[in-house]
Amino acid sequence: MRIGVLTGGGDCPGLNAVIRAAVRKGTKEYGHEFVGFRYGWRGPIEGITQPLDWDTVEGILDKGGTILHSSRTNPYKMEGAVEAIKKNMADLGVDALIAIGGEDTLGVATKLTADGVNCVGVPKTIDNDLSGTDYTFGFDTAVNIATEAIDRLWTTAESHDRCIVVEVMGRHAGWMTLHAGIAGGANVVLIPEVEFDMQRVSDFVKDRMDAGKSTIVAVSEGAIAKGGEMQLKDGEVDAFGHVKLGGVGDWVADEIKKRTGSETRAIVLGHLQRGGTPTAFDRVLATRLGLEAAAAVNDGDFGKMMALQGTNIVRIPIHEGTDVLKVVPVERYRDAEVFFGV
Ligand code: F6P
Repeated sequence: MRIGVLTGGGDCPGLNAVIRAAVRKGTKEYGHEFVGFRYGWRGPIEGITQPLDWDTVEGILDKGGTILHSSRTNPYKMEGAVEAIKKNMADLGVDALIAIGGEDTLGVATKLTADGVNCVGVPKTIDNDLSGTDYTFGFDTAVNIATEAIDRLWTTAESHDRCIVVEVMGRHAGWMTLHAGIAGGANVVLIPEVEFDMQRVSDFVKDRMDAGKSTIVAVSEGAIAKGGEMQLKDGEVDAFGHVKLGGVGDWVADEIKKRTGSETRAIVLGHLQRGGTPTAFDRVLATRLGLEAAAAVNDGDFGKMMALQGTNIVRIPIHEGTDVLKVVPVERYRDAEVFFGV
């Protein structure tokens, strides 16, 4: 069999570990051949390929990003793109695709499977917002980066008796902010799943300031104040209809400053959270998913997404990963609220 591999959507640490594991198992154990499609779904649409074999995946396990490059291309928004994928696969002798991606890339894999293209999916995202899998690789790395940032912000906040607001990625799911907030000991954690009361936040910061204490506020890019609106970077929408988020950190910091009169700073962690080397946890998870993806293709078990359930890697229908966004259950947030103090 000849198997195509692609990575779509925002990159995340661990993508190369999946590619390496799938290629190594697929070639060594099953004798299959591989080809890389570059730039997400744009690769098979335009026939943009790169060699993928035992040697080309050497030395990539610990590298962040993706050797296949990525894009947010949606074939279902482009005239003739699905037919182009089928034609390019036939011309290149590619029998099946391993699509590594988040809700958008895997959503396309579900539709393509229904349209007769052999696909298996591997879930990835720093946002950890895919259903059917306990964790997605990339999340652990991103949480560690955000936690380290909070640790560092603490020492400077304390030195200047300041409040520092740190804006964390995650789109409409607060997983990264919640985990980094707990791990970094943030005083206030604001996530999209629970509307926050700006006056309550600033009263809390003021009480701490009055007691001579500095404060760290961790806020998700998708968090919304009561009576307020989600902060958007610009009006831009991607091929999957997603708006770019950003700006809530600055807004919260300005409001705290206005309402308390205390010096407040905001920092946006942004793409730092997605870059660099994956943690050992993410390398192992990504490797196990890649191994299972190769096995699924070999078994002809198409339309399946590899998933972590408990400590096991299982196969579930791809749509079960993408039908419903996995957000933070409010009870989980409430459990941690005792530490946050708002
Ligand atoms: O989905 C991953 C993610 O990093 C989100 O947390 C974030 O909102 C978005 O991608 C940023 O996208 P881009 O890289 O296109 O700016």
